[in-house]
Formats: sequence, C-alpha cells, structure tokens
Amino acid sequence: MARLASVVLLLFLVSLSSSATGTRDLIGDVLRLPSEASRFFRTGDGQQEDDTVGTRWAVLIAGSNGYWNYRHQADICHAYQLLKKGGLKDENIIVFMYDDIAFNEENPRPGVIINSPDGDDVYKGVPKDYTGRNVTVGNFFAAILGNKTALTGGSGKVVDSGPNDHIFIYYSDHGGPGVLGMPTFPYMYANKLIEVLKKKHAAGTYKSLVFYLEACESGSIFEGLLPEGLNIFATTASNAVESSWGTYCPGEYPSPPPEYETCLGDLYSVAWMEDSDIHNLRSETLRQQYELVKSRTASDNSAYGSHVMQYGDIGLSNNSLFMYMGTNPANENYTFVGQNYLRPSSKAVNQRDADLVHFWDKFRKAPEGSPRKSQAQREFLEAMSHRMHIDESMKLIGKLLFGVEKGPEVLSAVRPSGQPLVDDWDCLMTMVRSFETYCGSLSQYGMKHMRSLANICNAGRTKEQMAEASAQACVNVPSGRWSSLHMGFSA
Ligand SMILES: *[C@@H]1O[C@H](CO)[C@@H](O)[C@H](O)[C@H]1NC(C)=O
Ligand SMILES: *[C@@H]1O[C@H](CO)[C@@H](O)[C@H](O)[C@H]1NC(C)=O
Ligand SMILES: *[C@@H]1O[C@H](CO)[C@@H](O)[C@H](O)[C@H]1NC(C)=O
Ligand SMILES: *[C@@H]1O[C@H](CO)[C@@H](O)[C@H](O)[C@H]1NC(C)=O
Repeated sequence: MARLASVVLLLFLVSLSSSATGTRDLIGDVLRLPSEASRFFRTGDGQQEDDTVGTRWAVLIAGSNGYWNYRHQADICHAYQLLKKGGLKDENIIVFMYDDIAFNEENPRPGVIINSPDGDDVYKGVPKDYTGRNVTVGNFFAAILGNKTALTGGSGKVVDSGPNDHIFIYYSDHGGPGVLGMPTFPYMYANKLIEVLKKKHAAGTYKSLVFYLEACESGSIFEGLLPEGLNIFATTASNAVESSWGTYCPGEYPSPPPEYETCLGDLYSVAWMEDSDIHNLRSETLRQQYELVKSRTASDNSAYGSHVMQYGDIGLSNNSLFMYMGTNPANENYTFVGQNYLRPSSKAVNQRDADLVHFWDKFRKAPEGSPRKSQAQREFLEAMSHRMHIDESMKLIGKLLFGVEKGPEVLSAVRPSGQPLVDDWDCLMTMVRSFETYCGSLSQYGMKHMRSLANICNAGRTKEQMAEASAQACVNVPSGRWSSLHMGFSA
C-alpha cells in the first residue's frame, strides 16, 4: 500500500515537473518534499539513492586588492548573499577577500559595498574567513582540499566534504595566460590549480564540482589542462586569448552613482549572479545559465565583451543550479523561461584598464589645484609609465633572444586551441622570476605577458639566456612597489 502511494506521488511529481518547464529535473522536486514524505520515499524501490543531494559547499575568492579593484570583492560579496539566500550555511561557505574596500577612505558609503548601480549592500554578514595577508594561494588550495594542517592563518574553515557533496568555486580578478592574480605573492598558476582539483577528485570527497571563473584569458586556465572524468564543470568569462570586462564603470552606461569613481562589477560575474538572483534555481540548469551568460557577456558590439567558454564534464551542465546554489524561497514562482530578463548589455571596460579609469575619474572630479587632483595625476602617470616599462622590456628581451625580426613573432604566437599554454610549467615560473629580478614586478597589468614568457620556454631558451637578456634589457632595477626583490615574485 505504501509502495503504491509512493509510486503515485512520484508519477505526480514527474508530470508536474515536466509540465511546468519541460527541463526541470526530478531531483529538485524530491528535495522539496517535507521530511516525512522523503522518508516515506526511501522505503520505496531505491530510486532515491541517485537523487540524494549531500551538502553544498562554496569557496569564493577575490584575487585583488586596492580600491580601483572594488568590483572583484563586490562580486564575491554578492555571490555570498546569493548562496546564503539559497539556503547554504555559513559553515559551508568559505570566503577569501582582502577586505580593504568597505572601509577604504575612497568608499563613498563607508561599510557598504554594492555590485550594481541601484544594488543593495552586499557586504553585510560576509564571513571574514581569509582576509588581508591570509588570502594566499596556499590557503586557497588547503581550503579546497580540506587540509587544515596546510593552512597558515585565517578562520580555519575548509571544505570538509564527503562523497555525496557538491562544491561550487567562484573566482573573480585579473588574470593572464595560465595565471590568476592574488593580492599576495605568488600568483596562482593553472598547473597547480589543476593538480589540486585532481587531488580533490582522487580523495573521493565530492560528487560534482562547478567552477565559475572571471579573469582575463581565463580560458587558458582550463584549456588543454582540465581533463574529462573529474566530475568538474567549469565556465570562464573569456577564452584563452582575450580580456574579460569590468562593468558599471564611471562614464559608461549604466554607470555607478556619481560619487563612485570605480567599476562596481564584472560583465560575466554580474550576468550569472543577476540571473541567479531572480529565478527559482530548481527550474534552471547550468547549461541554461551558461547560454544566457554567454550571450550577455559577448555583447553585440565586438569592441568590448568576451567569449564565455565551458570546460571539463560538459554533461554535468544538465544539473540544476539548485544542486550548487540552493534557491531563494522568495523566487519560487519565478521559473526560468529562457529569455533574458536582464538589463540591456551595458558598456564595459577592459579589466586591465579599470585602474586607469579609476585614476582618471578621480582626477577629473577633484577640484582644480587640490592635493587630491595631483595625487590622482601622479597615480595615473605612474601606472602608465610602469606599463610602458614592462611592455618595452618584454619586447626588447624578445629581440635579444630571437632577433629583431623574429622576436615579436615568437612572443605573440598562440598555440592551436585545445593545447595548453606551455609544456614545462617550471620553466615558465623560472622565466617569470628572471624577468622580475631585473625588470620589476609584472604586477596586475604585466600578467598579460605570460604568453610571451611561455613562448620563450616553448622555443627552448634556457634560464641563463633569459637572465642575460633580462639584465641587458633592464639596466635599472625598478624600486619601491614595482620591485619584486622587495615585494615578492609572481611565481
Ligand atoms: C596536508 O598538508 C600537509 C602540510 O602541507 C601535508 O604534509 C599533508 O600531506 C597534507 N595532507 C593531505 C591529506 O594531503
Ligand atoms: C590571519 O589569520 C590569523 C589567524 O587566524 C589572524 O590572527 C590574523 O589576524 C589574520 N590576518 C589578517 C590580516 O586578517
Ligand atoms: C543532457 O540532457 C539532454 C536533454 O535531456 C540530453 O539530450 C543529453 O544527452 C544529456 N547529456 C548528458 C551528457 O547526459
Ligand atoms: C507562489 O504562488 C503560490 C500560488 O499562487 C502562492 O500560494 C505562493 O505564496 C507564492 N509564493 C511566493 C513565495 O510568493
């Protein structure tokens, strides 16, 4: 009798779900049952096992600091609010953010962070697990692996997951080919990240893992590197060879409130979050969100926008977002129906130029003759001259290593898609350190030259040749904040 009732109820649920959206999966509906009903189910025919969702875990990380990078920490805080409303518990959400934005002297609303022009505060309640100097690659990897003994500082919270659990990882910051920025040194290299994901898989401590990645050249982190079969589905803001984009920037449309002299969000990031914010996530799959985010991030105007990509086990994109993000009960009647409810695609600013936009806007608005105006001017010019120094040094090194004609060609070569950036990652790290020893920190902007450094390895140049060329190209070692000898190396 009980058996019959459960079958009837099951059929009812199936018909309900397929008539509601056609794509909604059974998992979501089963989970929504009151606890007695699900217990009742379990006495049934074993149907249940596959549909049991374990614990949902999330690791959120902003890789930058500095007020001109406001948007990355705003993205991360927004993601926290979304997951919290979706029903994830604080003990299962691990946040890495430098935490220098909310109370930054430049912030026009002290203690508040917004991620869109008319958005609510997203800062309130965000756990401060790993902040300041504790935002390190080592701690991030240890948190993913659930290895408390490998931590140095921070709250000690790690992904202490089991075989039925689902993990969501979201990163937002600057990047370059094969590398993701961090507010501390060293930066995060693709090969190390992939090793960590493989290790996590080998430990058998998750059922499936979703990775959303916003950074320039973010496709290069997974391209030719993330194998199938790890039960990982990843999407990236851009392909392996292009920039990703900041949005809600001063002077663009829609622009932040006039008192903000910085971008509030990133194009790919706000696309997925503004979609997740308003829907019943039981009714939307990862694939549906991928398609929607892809079209919003591409932008019709090819002058800005990027190509959102997917990697790993694409089949997993059949899963509902609910499996990873939960769902906000207030959205229960907002089924995903496919069309883009979102605001019209906005104008955007290349990630790498967002700092210049900040200094420029600050300069423009500061009163004539004020210390603030001259400070903004100095910051702008310093950033520009560091860029020129890095660009010129790299070009010169290329010429010294490969000749005047071939140098630029070798440095800018792009391997066919599907191939990793470089075969010998240790060589790449060595080349980075060699460059930085003589020419100063690559820094946020200089990460774009990672492909050139990789190509130096791919062309078989040795570290001795590289050191000699760097020493010749950079006669004066930069000092202060641009010096890697003082600040630390990116690799
Ligand atoms: C955890 O980290 C420590 C220190 O880095 C390391 O010795 C140990 O092998 C790691 N444990 C596991 C299970 O990976
Ligand atoms: C880093 O973590 C340690 C240990 O939890 C803590 O005492 C320290 O205040 C943290 N540092 C920063 C900058 O947050
Ligand atoms: C995902 O679902 C679609 C539609 O139900 C189906 O056609 C496709 O084969 C599925 N893919 C995988 C890998 O399960
Ligand atoms: C959804 O719609 C049903 C039926 O109209 C209603 O009873 C319920 O309160 C609505 N849920 C929310 C969260 O508004």
